[in-house]
Amino acid sequence: MKKPIIIDCDPGLDDAIALFMILNNKNFDIRAVTPVSGNQTIDKTSINALKLVSFAGSNVPVACGASKPLYKELVTAAHVHGESGLGNVVLPDPKIGFSELNAYDMIYQEAVKHNNELEIVALGPLTNIALTLLKYPDVKDKIQRITLMGGSSGCGNDTPAAEFNIVADSDAAKIVFESGIPITMVGLDATHKALVLDEEINEIFSYKNKVSELAANILSNALIFCKAHGFEGAVMHDPLAMACIIDPEVMISKDYHVDIETKGTFTNGKTVVDVYHVTGKEPNAKVGIDIDRNKFMNILKEAMMNYEL
Ligand code: RIB
Ligand code: CA
Repeated sequence: MKKPIIIDCDPGLDDAIALFMILNNKNFDIRAVTPVSGNQTIDKTSINALKLVSFAGSNVPVACGASKPLYKELVTAAHVHGESGLGNVVLPDPKIGFSELNAYDMIYQEAVKHNNELEIVALGPLTNIALTLLKYPDVKDKIQRITLMGGSSGCGNDTPAAEFNIVADSDAAKIVFESGIPITMVGLDATHKALVLDEEINEIFSYKNKVSELAANILSNALIFCKAHGFEGAVMHDPLAMACIIDPEVMISKDYHVDIETKGTFTNGKTVVDVYHVTGKEPNAKVGIDIDRNKFMNILKEAMMNYEL
């Protein structure tokens, strides 16, 4: 039985690789891709999502989402993902069009259709999911799990305190973490260990299909950026979150209560992880603390190898 999933994302260079990892995976019934504003504006993340789905030879519905956070102003990550949102990547025009549904109606429709079987992989700010919860409160009982790239039990990458996806819409993140939907939080504690090294990028280049070549190009550019920031490899945030739904054993996690700071001058977007259980609050998330890097690399390589395009 194929697992029904929805991919919510803000492509986004690492989102692109995460999409390639799942679009050819026969174990999943991808019900939709739902772009959200984040790395770039919604017009750019939406056309990027459509082009990436089409480039991978898929016709999965792409249902456009929120153009801005719930209450705050949109602040993009153009300094990382470029003006297009996909760096210097140029993709052919898509062979498919956008869904007539918007993201939150699509998410709700699919949650009802697959009552409590649907899982969501969230790779950007959580605005679309929060909007679905606000418009359709009963959806919280119809989604089996949200595996999200976001947060950190320690420092941040967008501010000293907080990770980009959570900072970008901390109000949305608060709604999602308080919804009661089971959450797997793939935060920086784990993703900063999901490093792709030079020789691994060269191996992916050697697969010689158009998706693996594009992915290797993205990885090569990410490697330059990450090395300039002190990492020995290309940090693959969203691909690790995607790997977690392909094989949950790729990440070691612990059950913690996580609160989201939405008011702090210096701490807005901080995922406050109750590591020592001092609040007495029940855990609401499985928080990634370590990874099996070999398993991650095998998942990534196998996905890139298996395109016959
Ligand atoms: O902090 C990393 C996250 O922010 C990733 O999802 C990346 O695509 C950006 O959206
Ligand atoms: Ca992303």
